[in-house]
Amino acid sequence: MTHWTLTSWQQKQVKQQPIYLDSQALNSAVERLSKLPPLVTSWEIEGLKKQLAEAAEGRRFLLQGGDCAEVFSECESPIIANKLKILLQMSLVLVHGGKRRVIRVGRFAGQYAKPRSDDFETREGETHPSYRGDLVNKIGFNAEDRFNDPERLLRGYERAALTLNFIRSLVDGGFADLHHPEYWDLDFVKHSPRAAEYQKLVENIGDSLRFMETLAGRQVGEINRVDFFSSHEGLHLLYEQAQTRRVPHRPGWFNLAAHMPWIGMRTADPDGAHVEYFRGIANPIGVKIGSGVEPDMLLDLIERLNPLNEPGRLTLICRFGADKIASGLPPLVEAVRRKGHRVLWCCDPMHGNTIRTAEGIKTRRFDHIVSELEQAFDIHADIGTYLGGVHIELTGDNVTECTGGARGLSDQGLKESYKTFVDPRLNYEQALELALLVAQRMSRMIDAAALDGPVVF
Ligand code: PEP
Ligand code: CO
Repeated sequence: MTHWTLTSWQQKQVKQQPIYLDSQALNSAVERLSKLPPLVTSWEIEGLKKQLAEAAEGRRFLLQGGDCAEVFSECESPIIANKLKILLQMSLVLVHGGKRRVIRVGRFAGQYAKPRSDDFETREGETHPSYRGDLVNKIGFNAEDRFNDPERLLRGYERAALTLNFIRSLVDGGFADLHHPEYWDLDFVKHSPRAAEYQKLVENIGDSLRFMETLAGRQVGEINRVDFFSSHEGLHLLYEQAQTRRVPHRPGWFNLAAHMPWIGMRTADPDGAHVEYFRGIANPIGVKIGSGVEPDMLLDLIERLNPLNEPGRLTLICRFGADKIASGLPPLVEAVRRKGHRVLWCCDPMHGNTIRTAEGIKTRRFDHIVSELEQAFDIHADIGTYLGGVHIELTGDNVTECTGGARGLSDQGLKESYKTFVDPRLNYEQALELALLVAQRMSRMIDAAALDGPVVF
Protein backbone atom coordinates (compact mmCIF):
# COMPACT_ATOMS: atom_id res chain seq x y z
CA MET A 1 0.00 0.00 0.00
CA THR A 2 1.15 3.55 -0.68
CA HIS A 3 2.58 5.78 2.01
CA TRP A 4 -0.08 7.41 4.24
CA THR A 5 0.06 11.09 5.08
CA LEU A 6 -2.43 13.35 6.78
CA THR A 7 -3.47 14.62 3.37
CA SER A 8 -3.04 11.51 1.21
CA TRP A 9 -6.85 11.14 1.12
CA GLN A 10 -6.93 14.24 -1.05
CA GLN A 11 -5.41 12.21 -3.91
CA LYS A 12 -8.41 9.85 -3.89
CA GLN A 13 -11.95 10.25 -5.05
CA VAL A 14 -13.73 12.01 -2.20
CA LYS A 15 -17.47 11.71 -1.81
CA GLN A 16 -20.04 13.67 0.19
CA GLN A 17 -18.04 16.86 0.70
CA PRO A 18 -19.75 20.25 0.57
CA ILE A 19 -18.84 22.62 -2.22
CA TYR A 20 -17.41 25.84 -0.75
CA LEU A 21 -17.34 28.89 -2.96
CA ASP A 22 -14.54 30.71 -1.14
CA SER A 23 -11.49 28.49 -0.82
CA GLN A 24 -9.54 31.14 1.11
CA ALA A 25 -12.24 31.31 3.77
CA LEU A 26 -12.25 27.51 3.91
CA ASN A 27 -8.48 27.28 4.33
CA SER A 28 -8.54 29.91 7.02
CA ALA A 29 -11.25 28.05 8.99
CA VAL A 30 -9.41 24.72 8.70
CA GLU A 31 -6.16 26.31 9.77
CA ARG A 32 -7.70 27.90 12.85
CA LEU A 33 -9.43 24.62 13.70
CA SER A 34 -6.18 22.73 13.50
CA LYS A 35 -4.66 24.96 16.20
CA LEU A 36 -7.42 24.51 18.76
CA PRO A 37 -6.85 22.08 21.61
CA PRO A 38 -8.15 18.53 21.24
CA LEU A 39 -11.51 17.33 22.58
CA VAL A 40 -10.33 13.90 23.71
CA THR A 41 -6.98 12.38 24.62
CA SER A 42 -4.92 9.55 23.18
CA TRP A 43 -5.04 7.60 26.46
CA GLU A 44 -8.83 7.69 26.49
CA ILE A 45 -8.78 6.51 22.89
CA GLU A 46 -6.42 3.65 23.72
CA GLY A 47 -8.54 2.74 26.75
CA LEU A 48 -11.61 2.47 24.55
CA LYS A 49 -9.74 0.32 22.05
CA LYS A 50 -8.85 -2.15 24.80
CA GLN A 51 -12.45 -2.32 25.91
CA LEU A 52 -13.65 -2.88 22.34
CA ALA A 53 -11.13 -5.71 21.99
CA GLU A 54 -12.79 -7.35 24.98
CA ALA A 55 -16.22 -6.82 23.44
CA ALA A 56 -15.05 -8.58 20.27
CA GLU A 57 -14.21 -11.59 22.43
CA GLY A 58 -17.60 -11.58 24.14
CA ARG A 59 -16.42 -10.09 27.42
CA ARG A 60 -18.11 -6.71 27.06
CA PHE A 61 -21.00 -5.26 25.10
CA LEU A 62 -21.00 -2.02 23.11
CA LEU A 63 -23.95 0.34 23.39
CA GLN A 64 -23.59 3.10 20.82
CA GLY A 65 -26.44 5.55 20.54
CA GLY A 66 -27.66 9.08 20.07
CA ASP A 67 -29.11 11.37 17.46
CA CYS A 68 -29.00 10.77 13.75
CA ALA A 69 -27.91 14.40 13.44
CA GLU A 70 -27.09 16.71 16.31
CA VAL A 71 -28.07 20.31 15.71
CA PHE A 72 -26.45 23.40 17.18
CA SER A 73 -29.73 24.70 18.61
CA GLU A 74 -30.09 21.58 20.74
CA CYS A 75 -26.81 22.00 22.55
CA GLU A 76 -28.82 22.51 25.75
CA SER A 77 -28.46 21.01 29.17
CA PRO A 78 -31.78 19.09 29.45
CA ILE A 79 -31.39 17.54 26.00
CA ILE A 80 -27.84 16.41 26.68
CA ALA A 81 -28.68 15.18 30.19
CA ASN A 82 -31.68 13.21 28.93
CA LYS A 83 -29.54 11.49 26.34
CA LEU A 84 -27.09 10.47 29.06
CA LYS A 85 -29.94 9.27 31.24
CA ILE A 86 -31.39 6.96 28.63
CA LEU A 87 -27.96 5.59 27.74
CA LEU A 88 -27.29 4.95 31.43
CA GLN A 89 -30.63 3.25 31.92
CA MET A 90 -30.15 1.09 28.86
CA SER A 91 -26.67 0.11 29.93
CA LEU A 92 -27.88 -0.80 33.40
CA VAL A 93 -30.47 -3.10 31.86
CA LEU A 94 -27.86 -4.64 29.56
CA VAL A 95 -25.35 -5.21 32.34
CA HIS A 96 -28.02 -6.93 34.38
CA GLY A 97 -29.27 -9.18 31.56
CA GLY A 98 -26.02 -9.79 29.74
CA LYS A 99 -23.76 -10.10 32.81
CA ARG A 100 -21.13 -8.18 30.94
CA ARG A 101 -19.74 -4.71 31.33
CA VAL A 102 -21.17 -2.27 28.85
CA ILE A 103 -19.16 0.26 26.87
CA ARG A 104 -21.18 3.45 26.42
CA VAL A 105 -20.37 5.34 23.23
CA GLY A 106 -22.56 8.33 22.38
CA ARG A 107 -23.38 9.52 18.90
CA PHE A 108 -22.73 12.98 20.29
CA ALA A 109 -20.31 15.88 20.55
CA GLY A 110 -19.64 16.05 16.82
CA GLN A 111 -22.42 14.24 14.94
CA TYR A 112 -23.00 17.34 12.82
CA ALA A 113 -22.27 16.24 9.22
CA LYS A 114 -24.72 14.21 7.14
CA PRO A 115 -24.37 12.40 3.81
CA ARG A 116 -26.95 13.35 1.16
CA SER A 117 -27.87 11.78 -2.14
CA ASP A 118 -27.57 15.06 -4.09
CA ASP A 119 -25.44 18.19 -3.85
CA PHE A 120 -28.48 20.33 -4.60
CA GLU A 121 -32.14 20.27 -3.69
CA THR A 122 -34.91 21.74 -5.82
CA ARG A 123 -38.33 22.72 -4.53
CA GLU A 124 -40.92 24.36 -6.76
CA GLY A 125 -38.33 25.54 -9.23
CA GLU A 126 -35.96 26.92 -6.58
CA THR A 127 -32.56 25.23 -6.15
CA HIS A 128 -30.17 25.45 -3.20
CA PRO A 129 -27.30 23.30 -1.87
CA SER A 130 -28.59 20.30 0.10
CA TYR A 131 -28.58 20.47 3.87
CA ARG A 132 -25.44 18.55 4.91
CA GLY A 133 -25.73 18.95 8.65
CA ASP A 134 -25.13 21.94 10.92
CA LEU A 135 -21.38 21.62 10.41
CA VAL A 136 -21.95 22.84 6.85
CA ASN A 137 -25.18 24.85 6.53
CA LYS A 138 -28.69 25.29 7.97
CA ILE A 139 -31.82 23.31 7.34
CA GLY A 140 -34.07 26.20 6.22
CA PHE A 141 -34.74 26.24 2.49
CA ASN A 142 -33.42 29.62 1.33
CA ALA A 143 -30.17 30.94 -0.07
CA GLU A 144 -28.91 32.31 3.23
CA ASP A 145 -29.53 29.16 5.27
CA ARG A 146 -28.22 26.81 2.63
CA PHE A 147 -24.98 28.74 2.15
CA ASN A 148 -22.10 26.34 2.85
CA ASP A 149 -20.23 28.38 5.44
CA PRO A 150 -16.73 27.25 6.49
CA GLU A 151 -17.03 29.17 9.78
CA ARG A 152 -19.55 26.53 10.86
CA LEU A 153 -16.65 24.07 11.19
CA LEU A 154 -15.48 26.14 14.15
CA ARG A 155 -19.01 26.52 15.55
CA GLY A 156 -19.44 22.72 15.38
CA TYR A 157 -16.15 22.09 17.10
CA GLU A 158 -17.09 24.55 19.86
CA ARG A 159 -20.47 22.91 20.44
CA ALA A 160 -18.84 19.50 20.52
CA ALA A 161 -16.51 20.87 23.21
CA LEU A 162 -19.40 22.35 25.21
CA THR A 163 -21.30 19.07 25.01
CA LEU A 164 -18.33 16.99 26.11
CA ASN A 165 -17.49 19.40 28.88
CA PHE A 166 -20.98 19.09 30.33
CA ILE A 167 -20.96 15.29 30.03
CA ARG A 168 -17.58 15.01 31.69
CA SER A 169 -18.67 17.25 34.59
CA LEU A 170 -21.87 15.31 35.12
CA VAL A 171 -20.01 12.01 35.16
CA ASP A 172 -17.26 13.31 37.43
CA GLY A 173 -19.84 14.79 39.75
CA GLY A 174 -21.41 11.40 40.38
CA PHE A 175 -24.38 11.63 38.01
CA ALA A 176 -23.70 8.08 36.81
CA ASP A 177 -23.35 6.58 40.29
CA LEU A 178 -24.99 3.19 40.39
CA HIS A 179 -25.97 3.89 44.01
CA HIS A 180 -28.25 6.63 42.73
CA PRO A 181 -30.07 5.48 39.62
CA GLU A 182 -32.84 7.89 40.61
CA TYR A 183 -30.59 10.67 39.25
CA TRP A 184 -31.30 9.30 35.80
CA ASP A 185 -35.04 9.05 36.12
CA LEU A 186 -36.85 10.81 33.36
CA ASP A 187 -40.17 12.43 34.21
CA PHE A 188 -42.26 10.08 32.19
CA VAL A 189 -40.56 6.93 33.57
CA LYS A 190 -43.56 6.44 35.84
CA HIS A 191 -45.96 6.34 32.90
CA SER A 192 -44.05 3.86 30.79
CA PRO A 193 -45.71 0.48 30.24
CA ARG A 194 -42.34 -1.09 31.07
CA ALA A 195 -41.76 1.05 34.16
CA ALA A 196 -42.43 -1.72 36.68
CA GLU A 197 -39.95 -4.05 35.00
CA TYR A 198 -37.25 -1.40 35.02
CA GLN A 199 -37.90 -0.34 38.63
CA LYS A 200 -37.69 -3.96 39.79
CA LEU A 201 -34.37 -4.37 38.07
CA VAL A 202 -33.03 -1.19 39.66
CA GLU A 203 -34.12 -2.44 43.08
CA ASN A 204 -32.44 -5.82 42.48
CA ILE A 205 -29.19 -4.14 41.53
CA GLY A 206 -29.42 -1.85 44.57
CA ASP A 207 -29.95 -4.88 46.83
CA SER A 208 -26.98 -6.78 45.42
CA LEU A 209 -24.82 -3.70 45.63
CA ARG A 210 -25.67 -3.14 49.29
CA PHE A 211 -25.15 -6.85 49.98
CA MET A 212 -21.69 -6.86 48.36
CA GLU A 213 -20.69 -3.66 50.12
CA THR A 214 -21.79 -5.00 53.47
CA LEU A 215 -19.67 -8.09 52.90
CA ALA A 216 -16.68 -6.16 51.64
CA GLY A 217 -17.05 -3.37 54.20
CA ARG A 218 -16.40 -0.75 51.52
CA GLN A 219 -17.71 0.60 48.23
CA VAL A 220 -17.51 -1.81 45.34
CA GLY A 221 -15.03 -1.02 42.57
CA GLU A 222 -15.59 2.01 40.40
CA ILE A 223 -19.32 1.82 40.46
CA ASN A 224 -19.73 5.49 41.23
CA ARG A 225 -18.04 6.44 37.99
CA VAL A 226 -18.68 5.20 34.49
CA ASP A 227 -17.11 6.26 31.25
CA PHE A 228 -18.77 7.77 28.24
CA PHE A 229 -17.00 7.87 24.94
CA SER A 230 -17.85 10.05 21.95
CA SER A 231 -18.32 9.09 18.33
CA HIS A 232 -19.54 10.57 15.07
CA GLU A 233 -19.50 9.79 11.39
CA GLY A 234 -16.13 10.98 10.10
CA LEU A 235 -17.63 12.43 6.96
CA HIS A 236 -16.24 15.93 6.53
CA LEU A 237 -12.62 15.07 5.93
CA LEU A 238 -11.16 18.56 6.32
CA TYR A 239 -12.78 18.79 9.75
CA GLU A 240 -11.36 15.39 10.73
CA GLN A 241 -7.96 16.19 9.29
CA ALA A 242 -7.75 19.45 11.25
CA GLN A 243 -8.22 17.54 14.49
CA THR A 244 -5.79 14.73 13.65
CA ARG A 245 -2.53 15.10 15.52
CA ARG A 246 0.56 13.39 16.77
CA VAL A 247 0.88 13.18 20.54
CA PRO A 248 3.99 12.98 22.72
CA HIS A 249 5.21 9.48 23.64
CA ARG A 250 2.80 7.54 21.43
CA PRO A 251 3.39 6.47 17.84
CA GLY A 252 0.94 7.34 15.09
CA TRP A 253 -1.73 9.91 14.42
CA PHE A 254 -4.84 10.33 16.54
CA ASN A 255 -8.15 11.88 15.59
CA LEU A 256 -8.68 13.92 18.74
CA ALA A 257 -12.18 15.15 17.83
CA ALA A 258 -13.84 11.90 18.95
CA HIS A 259 -12.85 8.63 20.52
CA MET A 260 -14.42 6.46 17.84
CA PRO A 261 -15.15 7.98 14.44
CA TRP A 262 -16.89 5.76 11.90
CA ILE A 263 -17.11 5.53 8.11
CA GLY A 264 -20.68 5.83 6.81
CA MET A 265 -22.06 3.38 4.31
CA ARG A 266 -22.00 5.82 1.42
CA THR A 267 -18.30 6.56 1.86
CA ALA A 268 -17.00 3.04 2.57
CA ASP A 269 -15.52 2.47 -0.88
CA PRO A 270 -12.22 0.61 -0.19
CA ASP A 271 -10.39 2.78 -2.70
CA GLY A 272 -12.04 6.06 -1.71
CA ALA A 273 -10.80 9.03 0.28
CA HIS A 274 -12.54 8.16 3.54
CA VAL A 275 -10.95 4.72 3.80
CA GLU A 276 -7.60 6.31 2.93
CA TYR A 277 -7.92 8.86 5.74
CA PHE A 278 -9.17 6.32 8.29
CA ARG A 279 -6.48 3.74 7.62
CA GLY A 280 -3.86 6.14 8.94
CA ILE A 281 -5.38 7.05 12.30
CA ALA A 282 -4.80 5.11 15.50
CA ASN A 283 -8.35 5.37 16.91
CA PRO A 284 -10.71 2.46 17.14
CA ILE A 285 -12.99 2.96 14.14
CA GLY A 286 -16.32 1.70 12.84
CA VAL A 287 -17.51 0.99 9.31
CA LYS A 288 -21.15 0.78 8.30
CA ILE A 289 -21.86 -2.33 6.24
CA GLY A 290 -25.11 -2.91 4.35
CA SER A 291 -26.59 -4.92 1.53
CA GLY A 292 -24.56 -4.82 -1.60
CA VAL A 293 -21.31 -5.41 0.30
CA GLU A 294 -19.87 -8.70 -0.96
CA PRO A 295 -17.39 -10.77 1.08
CA ASP A 296 -14.46 -9.82 -1.18
CA MET A 297 -15.13 -6.13 -0.75
CA LEU A 298 -15.41 -6.51 3.01
CA LEU A 299 -12.13 -8.44 3.20
CA ASP A 300 -10.47 -5.73 1.11
CA LEU A 301 -11.79 -3.08 3.49
CA ILE A 302 -10.61 -4.98 6.56
CA GLU A 303 -7.15 -5.55 5.13
CA ARG A 304 -6.78 -1.84 4.43
CA LEU A 305 -8.22 -0.63 7.71
CA ASN A 306 -6.68 -3.19 10.02
CA PRO A 307 -3.69 -4.78 8.28
CA LEU A 308 -2.09 -5.82 11.58
CA ASN A 309 -5.29 -7.49 12.82
CA GLU A 310 -5.15 -5.36 15.94
CA PRO A 311 -7.88 -6.27 18.43
CA GLY A 312 -10.37 -3.48 19.16
CA ARG A 313 -9.37 -1.49 16.10
CA LEU A 314 -12.33 -2.29 13.85
CA THR A 315 -16.05 -2.48 14.54
CA LEU A 316 -18.32 -3.61 11.72
CA ILE A 317 -21.65 -1.87 12.18
CA CYS A 318 -24.11 -3.90 10.10
CA ARG A 319 -27.34 -2.33 8.86
CA PHE A 320 -29.16 -4.54 6.41
CA GLY A 321 -32.84 -4.24 7.33
CA ALA A 322 -35.05 -6.92 8.83
CA ASP A 323 -35.86 -8.36 5.40
CA LYS A 324 -32.28 -8.52 4.13
CA ILE A 325 -30.09 -9.48 7.06
CA ALA A 326 -30.78 -13.22 6.71
CA SER A 327 -29.28 -13.31 3.24
CA GLY A 328 -26.75 -10.48 3.58
CA LEU A 329 -24.98 -11.02 6.89
CA PRO A 330 -24.06 -14.75 7.08
CA PRO A 331 -21.70 -14.83 4.06
CA LEU A 332 -19.83 -11.83 5.47
CA VAL A 333 -19.49 -13.29 8.95
CA GLU A 334 -18.31 -16.61 7.49
CA ALA A 335 -15.72 -14.94 5.26
CA VAL A 336 -14.32 -12.81 8.08
CA ARG A 337 -14.16 -15.76 10.42
CA ARG A 338 -12.42 -17.98 7.87
CA LYS A 339 -9.70 -15.37 7.44
CA GLY A 340 -9.23 -15.04 11.20
CA HIS A 341 -9.85 -11.28 11.24
CA ARG A 342 -10.51 -9.94 14.71
CA VAL A 343 -13.46 -7.57 14.46
CA LEU A 344 -16.28 -6.48 16.70
CA TRP A 345 -19.67 -7.25 15.18
CA CYS A 346 -22.29 -4.64 15.96
CA CYS A 347 -25.89 -4.40 14.77
CA ASP A 348 -27.44 -1.11 13.64
CA PRO A 349 -31.11 -2.12 13.33
CA MET A 350 -32.16 1.42 12.36
CA HIS A 351 -30.77 2.39 8.98
CA GLY A 352 -31.94 -0.61 6.94
CA ASN A 353 -35.46 -0.20 8.28
CA THR A 354 -36.38 3.33 7.31
CA ILE A 355 -39.72 3.57 5.48
CA ARG A 356 -42.30 6.21 4.63
CA THR A 357 -45.89 6.14 5.80
CA ALA A 358 -48.77 6.53 3.32
CA GLU A 359 -48.55 10.27 4.07
CA GLY A 360 -44.84 10.32 3.28
CA ILE A 361 -43.51 10.64 6.85
CA LYS A 362 -40.13 8.97 7.38
CA THR A 363 -40.41 6.39 10.14
CA ARG A 364 -39.21 3.02 11.42
CA ARG A 365 -41.33 0.26 12.88
CA PHE A 366 -40.28 -0.98 16.29
CA ASP A 367 -41.05 -4.58 15.21
CA HIS A 368 -38.65 -4.36 12.28
CA ILE A 369 -35.93 -3.00 14.56
CA VAL A 370 -36.41 -5.83 17.05
CA SER A 371 -36.58 -8.40 14.27
CA GLU A 372 -33.26 -7.32 12.75
CA LEU A 373 -31.59 -7.47 16.15
CA GLU A 374 -33.05 -10.89 16.95
CA GLN A 375 -31.86 -12.22 13.61
CA ALA A 376 -28.40 -10.78 14.17
CA PHE A 377 -28.16 -12.65 17.49
CA ASP A 378 -29.35 -15.87 15.79
CA ILE A 379 -26.94 -15.59 12.87
CA HIS A 380 -23.93 -15.10 15.12
CA ALA A 381 -25.04 -17.89 17.44
CA ASP A 382 -25.39 -20.28 14.46
CA ILE A 383 -21.98 -19.46 13.06
CA GLY A 384 -20.29 -19.42 16.45
CA THR A 385 -19.35 -15.74 16.45
CA TYR A 386 -20.43 -13.06 18.91
CA LEU A 387 -22.72 -10.09 18.44
CA GLY A 388 -20.88 -7.61 20.60
CA GLY A 389 -22.87 -4.42 20.26
CA VAL A 390 -25.85 -2.38 19.12
CA HIS A 391 -25.90 0.97 17.38
CA ILE A 392 -29.10 2.92 17.83
CA GLU A 393 -30.61 6.28 16.98
CA LEU A 394 -32.45 7.49 20.04
CA THR A 395 -33.28 10.47 22.13
CA GLY A 396 -33.97 10.86 25.84
CA ASP A 397 -37.06 12.88 24.98
CA ASN A 398 -40.61 11.86 24.41
CA VAL A 399 -40.75 12.17 20.64
CA THR A 400 -43.01 10.25 18.25
CA GLU A 401 -40.84 9.29 15.30
CA CYS A 402 -40.80 5.45 15.24
CA THR A 403 -44.06 3.49 15.35
CA GLY A 404 -44.90 0.52 17.58
CA GLY A 405 -43.44 -0.40 20.95
CA ALA A 406 -45.35 -1.13 24.14
CA ARG A 407 -47.49 1.96 23.70
CA GLY A 408 -48.36 0.92 20.14
CA LEU A 409 -47.65 4.26 18.47
CA SER A 410 -49.53 4.39 15.15
CA ASP A 411 -48.77 6.18 11.89
CA GLN A 412 -51.34 8.82 12.89
CA GLY A 413 -49.61 9.32 16.25
CA LEU A 414 -46.32 10.26 14.56
CA LYS A 415 -47.39 13.89 14.18
CA GLU A 416 -47.73 14.49 17.92
CA SER A 417 -44.07 15.17 18.52
CA TYR A 418 -42.06 14.52 15.37
CA LYS A 419 -38.87 16.56 15.79
CA THR A 420 -35.98 14.85 14.06
CA PHE A 421 -34.03 16.78 11.46
CA VAL A 422 -32.96 13.67 9.59
CA ASP A 423 -33.77 10.06 10.62
CA PRO A 424 -36.53 8.94 13.04
CA ARG A 425 -35.24 8.04 16.52
CA LEU A 426 -36.50 5.74 19.23
CA ASN A 427 -38.01 7.73 22.05
CA TYR A 428 -37.13 7.15 25.68
CA GLU A 429 -39.67 4.38 26.25
CA GLN A 430 -38.92 2.55 23.03
CA ALA A 431 -35.17 2.68 23.71
CA LEU A 432 -35.64 1.25 27.18
CA GLU A 433 -37.95 -1.43 25.84
CA LEU A 434 -35.38 -2.38 23.24
CA ALA A 435 -32.72 -2.67 25.94
CA LEU A 436 -35.00 -4.91 28.01
CA LEU A 437 -35.55 -7.18 25.00
CA VAL A 438 -31.84 -7.38 24.18
CA ALA A 439 -31.03 -8.06 27.83
CA GLN A 440 -33.58 -10.87 27.96
CA ARG A 441 -32.10 -12.33 24.84
CA MET A 442 -28.56 -12.14 26.22
CA SER A 443 -29.59 -13.72 29.49
CA ARG A 444 -31.29 -16.61 27.62
CA MET A 445 -28.07 -17.20 25.71
CA ILE A 446 -26.13 -17.32 28.94
CA ASP A 447 -28.59 -19.85 30.38
CA ALA A 448 -28.29 -21.99 27.25
CA ALA A 449 -24.50 -21.81 27.31
CA ALA A 450 -24.49 -22.77 31.00
CA LEU A 451 -25.95 -26.14 30.03
CA ASP A 452 -22.78 -26.88 28.08
CA GLY A 453 -20.37 -25.78 30.76
CA PRO A 454 -19.36 -22.73 32.76
CA VAL A 455 -19.42 -19.31 31.15
CA VAL A 456 -16.38 -17.21 31.96
CA PHE A 457 -17.01 -13.46 31.94
C1 PEP B 1 -26.27 7.33 10.07
O1 PEP B 1 -25.70 6.58 10.89
O2 PEP B 1 -26.97 8.32 10.40
C2 PEP B 1 -26.16 7.00 8.63
C3 PEP B 1 -26.27 7.90 7.68
O3 PEP B 1 -25.97 5.69 8.45
P1 PEP B 1 -25.48 4.83 7.20
O4 PEP B 1 -24.12 5.35 6.85
O5 PEP B 1 -25.48 3.46 7.76
O6 PEP B 1 -26.50 5.03 6.12
CO1 CO C 1 -29.27 8.20 10.69
